[in-house]
Amino acid sequence: MSEVVTYNREGTVGVITVNYPPVNALGHAVRSGLVSALEQGQKDADAKVLLLVCEGRTFIAGADIREFGKPMHEPGLAAVVDHFENCDKPVVAAIHGTALGGGLETALGCHYRVALSSARVGLPEVKLGLLPGAGGTQRLPRLTGARKALEMITTGEFVEAQDAFEAGILDAVEDSEDIKSVGLAYAQTVADEGRPVRRVRDLTDRVEADKDSDVFDQFRASLQKKARGLFSPFKCVDAVEAAFNLPFDEGMKRERELFMECMESPQRSGLIHAFFAEREVAKVKGLAKDTPVREIRKVGVIGAGTMGGGIAMNFANAGIPVTIAEVKQEALDKGLAVIRRNYENSAKKGRITQAQVEERMSLISGTLTYDDFSDADLVIEAVFESMDLKKKIFGQLDEACKPGAILASNTSTLSIDDIAAATSRPQDVIGLHFFSPANVMKLLEIVRGEKTSDEVKATAMALARKIRKVGVMVGNCYGFVGNRMLHKRGAEAMALVNEGATPQQVDRVLTDLGFPMGQFAMSDLAGIDIGYSIRQERRKAGEDVPASWLDKLAEQGRLGQKTGAGVYKYEEGNRKPIPDPEVDEIIASFRQEQGIKPREITDQEILERCMYVMVNEGAKILEEGIADRPLDIDVVWIYGYGFPAYRGGPMFWADEIGLDTILATVKNFHDTVGGEQWKPAGLLEKLVGEGRKFGDL
Ligand code: 3HC
Ligand code: NAI
Repeated sequence: MSEVVTYNREGTVGVITVNYPPVNALGHAVRSGLVSALEQGQKDADAKVLLLVCEGRTFIAGADIREFGKPMHEPGLAAVVDHFENCDKPVVAAIHGTALGGGLETALGCHYRVALSSARVGLPEVKLGLLPGAGGTQRLPRLTGARKALEMITTGEFVEAQDAFEAGILDAVEDSEDIKSVGLAYAQTVADEGRPVRRVRDLTDRVEADKDSDVFDQFRASLQKKARGLFSPFKCVDAVEAAFNLPFDEGMKRERELFMECMESPQRSGLIHAFFAEREVAKVKGLAKDTPVREIRKVGVIGAGTMGGGIAMNFANAGIPVTIAEVKQEALDKGLAVIRRNYENSAKKGRITQAQVEERMSLISGTLTYDDFSDADLVIEAVFESMDLKKKIFGQLDEACKPGAILASNTSTLSIDDIAAATSRPQDVIGLHFFSPANVMKLLEIVRGEKTSDEVKATAMALARKIRKVGVMVGNCYGFVGNRMLHKRGAEAMALVNEGATPQQVDRVLTDLGFPMGQFAMSDLAGIDIGYSIRQERRKAGEDVPASWLDKLAEQGRLGQKTGAGVYKYEEGNRKPIPDPEVDEIIASFRQEQGIKPREITDQEILERCMYVMVNEGAKILEEGIADRPLDIDVVWIYGYGFPAYRGGPMFWADEIGLDTILATVKNFHDTVGGEQWKPAGLLEKLVGEGRKFGDL
């Protein structure tokens, strides 16, 4: 008997229990255990009805992702689901936690489904570059009709139990915390009422109703925009459509073919790398699991500008009161009004209710003095990127805040150690680097200073989870991980434009790779003044920062989206970048001033110069221990800069291209383009020499 799946009987109910922590994934042991437990149940003459239930935190959360790409051992999941469906005694699935992917598919193979009201169900395979491969695309639409099935399968979003009940996926939802009792009671009712075996494969009414609907073409059209560059969402539509055009068994065959196509696509390996990398970054090297964590009950934010407002929203969304400090009432009022507008917009789109708008706004207050931070557990500074100003503020915070309060900076480039040195408590100082828009982007780059205590680091990681961000711990250096690499890419993008490319050509190469926006559209979003003041700071510090046509834009007040013009121009209320001939002129006159004769630049050169420079810098970042692992860099880029998750992040992408190819190109640019950014990273040379990849580190 399998240890992970057991069979026992309670009265007339034969109970099949899965116990395979952490999430009861359908690894080989579970699949074969399910088949033998089901056989036992079928043979057990005293069992009138069978119940499938799980121990631990959740119902089956899907296929075991760790087995993908390895040889498949029988029984396959689709066969397991068939066994359940073909059972001649009624089988009830009792769902708690999340029934996901193969887990929901197994439940769909059962004849009845009951769930706790806290449970959620979903077919998230698409997020891993796949489609449901054990009948999900054929059975779900037989319960829900085409539209709901397409929504669930193409987005992978989870559905709350009540919603799933209304959609026909669940037969009953119970307000309880005890899934075993709920399942047993439901199974008993099925037995008492003599309910028949009801196979989803045999249901036809929903399929008939939607047979000739144009919903499939509607979905394909909407995916052109929403799922740009992605492979599997389109295959999901094809698979669901097969449920409407083909008999069940042929539909299953079609699903299998499409599933295998997805399995073999490189996007699957990139997305699965991203899935595990996101979970791995939570395990910070050198930080003990039981490190104590400080409670964060009240937060202060300094600066109600672009970042401060978004940062404050994160805390209000998590139910944590937050006070924002500004220098002038006018700036404060403006910042608070922007926050309200953002919430109102979310309410208009139906993402939150009007009551939630008010509830969240009531958690946000404003002040003009840091005295109001005396009882804050955490204060995050988000003022202009100026070291002098930040040092002054941290000195004042040191006076105003209680002992044990964490003092954080949202600086995007400046040294956390230098900022910490302005206080008497460097152990309590840390970088909390949010990404714009701060209420949306999932990344929180957590910058450890030399003296930051483990407790503060652990608190920052826990806080990231609490506010639903992905926290990545990184070391302190200019720009940390993300911006250090971004600035190398930015400098290369600038050089390419200087040499003859247009900003829109550079941006197109990057969006073709899968970025949601290019380098220059991103500068417009962040604000041209941000980069300008960073350059000015560096010039002030005596660094040799070359002149740039971007400085000219900043000096002319073309600060990006916020002023309606930057590298691109923008129509009122529209974020779509429009190429601007005025900027072409500014660039042309800049080239003339610098004596540059423009040349034709190929897309391939743009790709290599913008991306390989990042990979080379990433290798240097690893060498210096600024990032602990290549996957930390991948996660920073996926969640902070919209690097296409299906390419797995820049370091995973580099491995796929081949580090030898990258090194050869880097060396070539070192000789032809020149500059320290093209000096090959020692780690890159070492890995190539040893025939290894970043993924082997
Ligand atoms: N296979 C293997 N391991 C899995 C897994 C899976 N399907 N799902 C989660 N895990 C592991 C995680 O890697 C993590 O491991 P770790 O502790 O060693 O880091 C552990 O389980 C806990 O996961 P989380 O940290 O994510 O825990 P949460 O409680 O936050 O979330 C969850 C739980 C909602 C189940 C979330 O893990 C999740 O969304 N998992 C993926 C579900 C999924 O995509 N299922 C579909 C799989 S594909 C499929 O079924 C194909 C089929 O159609 C043929
Ligand atoms: P911003 O210019 O939009 O806002 C700064 C705000 O700080 C202004 O409203 C200003 O009035 C206020 N301020 C200045 N001095 C103050 C003081 N002494 N006390 C209280 N308030 C004060 O700037 P933005 O873009 O929000 O940037 C803030 C910080 O966040 C910078 O360090 C920047 O590098 C960093 N950052 C910016 C990102 C972006 O995309 N804009 C992304 C990530 C970090």
